[in-house]
Amino acid sequence: MRKAIIAGNWKMNKTPAEAVALVNELKPLVKDAICDVVVCVPAVNFYAVKEAIAGSNIKLGAENVHWAASGAYTGELSADMLVAAGVEYVIIGHSERRQYFGETDQTVNQRVLAAVKAGLKVILCVGEMKDVREAGATDGLVDYQTIMALNGLTAEEVSEVIIAYEPVWAIGTGLTATDEQANETIGVIRKAVARKYGQEVADKVRIQYGGSMNPKNVKGLMAQPEIDGGLIGGASLKAPDFSLVVNYDK
Ligand code: 13P
Repeated sequence: MRKAIIAGNWKMNKTPAEAVALVNELKPLVKDAICDVVVCVPAVNFYAVKEAIAGSNIKLGAENVHWAASGAYTGELSADMLVAAGVEYVIIGHSERRQYFGETDQTVNQRVLAAVKAGLKVILCVGEMKDVREAGATDGLVDYQTIMALNGLTAEEVSEVIIAYEPVWAIGTGLTATDEQANETIGVIRKAVARKYGQEVADKVRIQYGGSMNPKNVKGLMAQPEIDGGLIGGASLKAPDFSLVVNYDK
């Protein structure tokens, strides 16, 4: 049995004061969650959020990480810096980084290797654009993205990685993959992991769905056998909404 994991991806939202207000409102609402609860926040909020969540069941995540240990990479943050700031999880390869910031399967892979080596828990994002789904090429693409991103990790390391399947056409659009579509594509991702790393590893890897997941559709998605959680954008910015997603079982 895989433990479910629900993570918020705040993207470029919230000042430190707003971040503290949000997590303080969230804490009592999610304290009895049966799943792991994570908030991935902008780096300016690490310190304030770390203090605010101390002693609670909410874990801190980042939204990106660089692959180098240090050096001339203006504006970037290393994995060791994130660890030192109290960050436990990191999103890598989000479609917005791939679309707007030149992220490739190769740079995603480099970031994953650096993050895992530093002891961070990776939330690796994969997913297809609308034209890819319409062309019937989704399965091949998510298989390729998954294998390339994990390349160089040991099977044991792969078993600890969290994968988020985020169809790009469903992000921030209000369009959700149907429960069956999400389940089927996540099954394809799990098969890719099984082919390369073995069934035991594939059975352990937690795979989330992301893309307009909200209090209304969470129960249906979480009832699917392949879906082990969610990566939540818009609905993670309001404590009542995010808590309803986290408490999908109640
Ligand atoms: P939305 O939930 O706003 O569609 O965003 C999903 C997402 O990109 C999470 O990483």
